[in-house]
Amino acid sequence: MKGIILSGGKGTRLYPLTAVTSKQLLPIYNRPMIFYPLNILIKAGIKEILIIVAPERAGDYLNLLGSGKEWGVKFTYEIQDSPKGLSEAFIIGETFLQGDDVVMILGDNIFEEDLTEHISSFKKGARIFAKEVKDPERFGVVEFDKDMKVISIEEKPKNPKSNFAIPGVYIYDSRIVQFAKESKPSERGELEIVDLHKRYLDNGELDVRVINGEWIDAGTFDSLVKANLLAQEKLHKNLII
Ligand code: G1P
Repeated sequence: MKGIILSGGKGTRLYPLTAVTSKQLLPIYNRPMIFYPLNILIKAGIKEILIIVAPERAGDYLNLLGSGKEWGVKFTYEIQDSPKGLSEAFIIGETFLQGDDVVMILGDNIFEEDLTEHISSFKKGARIFAKEVKDPERFGVVEFDKDMKVISIEEKPKNPKSNFAIPGVYIYDSRIVQFAKESKPSERGELEIVDLHKRYLDNGELDVRVINGEWIDAGTFDSLVKANLLAQEKLHKNLII
């Protein structure tokens, strides 16, 4: 299992905080934001991690994180020239992945829960997560039955079929690269991750796990504040890097 952290984009919603730095390098209590998803991967025993960054900020990431050696892991860096969607990460990461399974986390997603068991028990297909929220229309939304069988998946639906958002952590087998290459841009011009989930869903190979701990997509001013408070109160005690 390899890891990818997608940390590109321009962070326009957080301007001017992001005028001279990357969103995923902004402080969350006592660490830059990207340390939180990195902790999830490193705790789960993942040794090879690809960090995908925007061209303007690549030097900052290298200076901050280096080779990964001090934490017993190896970082590889790739550039995402423009934000063309989450699925592009697997096309950019093809050489890095070399046919291995992968867990991808978005660089602005903060999780309270340790995801080690969910990652290490993965065998085949795709695994996504579900977190009950009050504002599902802001996210990918998953609908599932009482046996945890996925019924539908939609990206930012106006009328969500459930209150379960799909957080920005995903686990896939090696077919993900091919599925990403075959996918087409949506109306907003992006390669949508939801389309990749649908490929696995159509094959009956999409599995979902509910997350009980807190989850924050730190992409807005208010969620940034929440993430800082969560880190101050709870998360910083369990960080390994
Ligand atoms: C992305 C995904 C969405 C997911 C969210 C989690 O949205 O497209 O499905 O729920 O991340 O953070 P974005 O935050 O890029 O709009």
